[in-house]
Amino acid sequence: MMGPDELIAFFPAADGETLQMVCGLLAPFDGLVRVHCRGVDLQLPDRNSLWRGLQCWGMLTGRLTTDFSKFCLAGNCRQCATTIRRAGAEPEVVLACKAEPEPGMEILELAEGFELRT
Ligand code: FES
Repeated sequence: MMGPDELIAFFPAADGETLQMVCGLLAPFDGLVRVHCRGVDLQLPDRNSLWRGLQCWGMLTGRLTTDFSKFCLAGNCRQCATTIRRAGAEPEVVLACKAEPEPGMEILELAEGFELRT
């Protein structure tokens, strides 16, 4: 299981308080999954939703903001609908609050409410 001491190796610019906060938000995870999004390689924790991974990546890098007012996180509102492509597959729309990152996954279109600085 990873924690703040392991995360710092991937996010050296993040401060200790943010690392602790992020680990408090995440379900236990064993590693980071590289997901490509509009020219940026995101490192998202496994065994967590894409939504939570995006939120935490934004906190750790300062490069992605989340408008919390838009999302229910319960799979009901569909505001988190995100266009992805799994390795070797056709694009599809998934709910970011339900889907988990996978190696080779690409995010083609982020849900409204996420702002990525490329
Ligand atoms: S945030 Fe509402 S369905 Fe995902």
